[in-house]
Amino acid sequence: MSNVVITGAQWGDEGKGKIVDLLTEEADYIVRYQGGHNAGHTVVIGDTEFILHLIPSGVLRKGKRCVIGNGVVIDPHALLAEIDGLKERGIGIKDNLFISSRAHIIMPYHCAIEKESEKLKGSLRIGTTGRGIGPTYADKMARVGIRVADLIDREVFREKLQVNLQEMNYFLERLYGVKGFVLDEVYDEYTGYAERLRGFAADTALLLNQAIKEGKNILFEGAQGTHLDVDHGTYPYVTSSNATAGGACTGTGVGPTKIDKVLGVVKAYTTRVGSGPFPTELQDKTGEFLRDKGREYGATTGRPRRCGWFDALTTSYAAKVNGFTEMAVTKLDVLDDLDEIKICVGYKYRGKRYDEMPSELKVLEGCEPVYESMAGWKASTAGLSEYGALPQKAQRYLARIEELIGVEIGIISTGFRRDETIILKKIF
Ligand code: GDP
Ligand code: IMO
Ligand code: MG
Repeated sequence: MSNVVITGAQWGDEGKGKIVDLLTEEADYIVRYQGGHNAGHTVVIGDTEFILHLIPSGVLRKGKRCVIGNGVVIDPHALLAEIDGLKERGIGIKDNLFISSRAHIIMPYHCAIEKESEKLKGSLRIGTTGRGIGPTYADKMARVGIRVADLIDREVFREKLQVNLQEMNYFLERLYGVKGFVLDEVYDEYTGYAERLRGFAADTALLLNQAIKEGKNILFEGAQGTHLDVDHGTYPYVTSSNATAGGACTGTGVGPTKIDKVLGVVKAYTTRVGSGPFPTELQDKTGEFLRDKGREYGATTGRPRRCGWFDALTTSYAAKVNGFTEMAVTKLDVLDDLDEIKICVGYKYRGKRYDEMPSELKVLEGCEPVYESMAGWKASTAGLSEYGALPQKAQRYLARIEELIGVEIGIISTGFRRDETIILKKIF
């Protein structure tokens, strides 16, 4: 048995969905531990593409148990729509989904507040997905959040909702000058959702600890990425949860002594959606090339992703704060046609050289990347499943990444399908 955490090493969209789906074959439980439906995890099976937002990507394989942990924030409407959408496509969801009764609920006022707050921030806006994630986590920390257990208890729900609406409506109406919410309307809508969700609610911490006792394999599916983590990321241009591996413990109730491996998913280049510093961003033809070839458009919002070279500073920082035991390098095939490929190995800011990622945003925003340049391999790696079949120069690129980050590469992804993968190391 082993328990493996999968986390994104960059700013999200590293290809976690594909890797999770691949490893699910050997997992018994697949568990989301943070974030919400701001995530968009793509899994391609044959010619069919699925984009999972809130339900663990493991749901696409039969006989797997999927868990939405306490660290996740849930929009009941979005969750039910996702369940219905999957059912329509032949993916049954019934006894295979468990939702933590301690997970917090995204309420309509969270989305409204976020929308207005982003508007107010102007050029300082975060560029959120608009899903109400930040305000929901803020309420959780302020200890006024509504949890799944509260939602399914009509009395508790009404009481909490009434108090929360007084405050939220004050902000919406007085500060932002927009319409507030009517207690009875929200209550009726959400108690309707509660009835459909009731059967999924469970003490998932107990469930997972029991599974561990029985020797089951557990896969923790991180959403977002290290540099979107509220503690370790490029704050304030982050999401509001702990996307890093530690979040897998607090977000599920499984202790750190039970985690065996942490697999970092690393894109062979870098992308970012939304605002915030991105030292290796390419605002030129190469950036456009990466966006087109890599189909770099948000799986949740459809926004074009900002693209740039691989950054060894941000990635090795991620390796440290997550404690990566292995890396999965994805989208190698996207680099196939390039004449030259660069790797950022340092930053220069006001005459000073940085060999580690600094915490100051103004350094990250104003620095000049120091690059190492390599000749491209100019040959197709698309779909390759044998390491030996990779061009020498592609092998050298991967070896250099491994050397710079100091973590072994266990998986190389050469396409979006399951079989377009080179497995170098058994993860489970
Ligand atoms: P996630 O949020 O980390 O799960 O990643 P997304 O699903 O948002 O974005 C990754 C995109 O890259 C998806 O469209 C995947 O189908 C695609 N993808 C994943 N791995 C590979 C790969 O090795 N090569 C190519 N070309 N595409 C990939
Ligand atoms: P997956 O799991 C990429 C970004 C948003 C924004 C910031 C805050 O698919 O990798 P939020 O709505 O979370 O408050 O937005 O975080 N963001 C993501 N970027 N992939 C994601 O998820 C993301 N989830 C949030 O674009 O910059
Ligand atoms: Mg994504």
